[in-house]
Amino acid sequence: MNEILKNFTEKISNFGELYYFDETHDEIYLKMSSIVGYEMQKQYIKTFFNALRYFATKRNISPQLRPKLTLLLIGPPGTGKTTIIRAASFEYKYPLILVHADKLVEALLGQTLRKIRNVFEVTKSLVTALKSPVILFFDELDAIASERSNANEVGEIKRSVISFLQNLDSLTELTLPVGVVAATNHQDLLDSAVWRRFNFHLDFGIPDRMTRQRIFSYYLDLLTENDIPFNCNPDILAKDEISMGYTGADIQRAFHLAILRHLEGEAITDELIIRLLELVGGTQDHLKNKERLAGVKEVKDKNEDDFDNTPRYEQF
Ligand SMILES: Nc1ncnc2c1ncn2[C@@H]1O[C@H](COP(=O)(O)OP(=O)(O)O)[C@@H](O)[C@H]1O
Ligand SMILES: [Mg+2]
Repeated sequence: MNEILKNFTEKISNFGELYYFDETHDEIYLKMSSIVGYEMQKQYIKTFFNALRYFATKRNISPQLRPKLTLLLIGPPGTGKTTIIRAASFEYKYPLILVHADKLVEALLGQTLRKIRNVFEVTKSLVTALKSPVILFFDELDAIASERSNANEVGEIKRSVISFLQNLDSLTELTLPVGVVAATNHQDLLDSAVWRRFNFHLDFGIPDRMTRQRIFSYYLDLLTENDIPFNCNPDILAKDEISMGYTGADIQRAFHLAILRHLEGEAITDELIIRLLELVGGTQDHLKNKERLAGVKEVKDKNEDDFDNTPRYEQF
């Protein structure tokens, strides 16, 4: 099996990467639990991945009963979407074809369409060769399927979206055990046909106070594991006035800076982390400022209710 996978690594390298579980590899074991919180979302991802295993073994299930295994992850950058899919694939030992959608966009439309087709063809031949589940993951899908894509004209965007959808349809009509996952930071810009074609939608919102408390605790526990002393209280750090609007990635970045300060002999305290959070800046504020600068739309000041992170499941 690993021989086959090795052979595909190169074919995939011009649009993304192939990841697979390899016992001989000593890279850090990726776990879904390294993304803290988002428990409902994780549960749905597990259901999706379990279904894939089921369909891989029970090929005789009627096509009318077979859900198309297409999953769309939406939410702001830094909320763990890419990591969670990589970790789930690793835990389930499903090879993962990670497509960087921006790498599919070429100066000439013909080349873009050829590249899109190639992604699906390579995926089909990999699944056929392995006869076991594979995840095809389009990260930052908006690069090909939205107004913000790098394509030159509206017509070109439309053509690449149509081509993407046709290829997706022809793949999901086959009874191959392939799960198609896509992630986007710009769900509002995503072509609505693309949106509809994904059967399951999972929302990764900016973490609420409880989730931030758990994320701070997670990174503080890692300090303990690494024998790095600190004097911090996750309940304080998670307060709205301190870290509302910060994602897991923002918090992790503040801890990276804290490590540098620690190496310089500074004590890791709540005050230090708060200063570093300010330095890093919260994603929510970045997004607001970006919208303001771009004049995209009037951004009203958010009140606490806007940060309610109750997950919304459109169709699951
Ligand atoms: N909820 C979280 N708990 C712990 N770490 C997180 C969390 N969310 C994000 N991170 C950290 O931020 C990094 C970047 O997340 P990433 O998966 O790239 O986000 P996205 O794909 O949504 O932009 C992750 O690898 C992880 O280290
Ligand atoms: Mg990502």
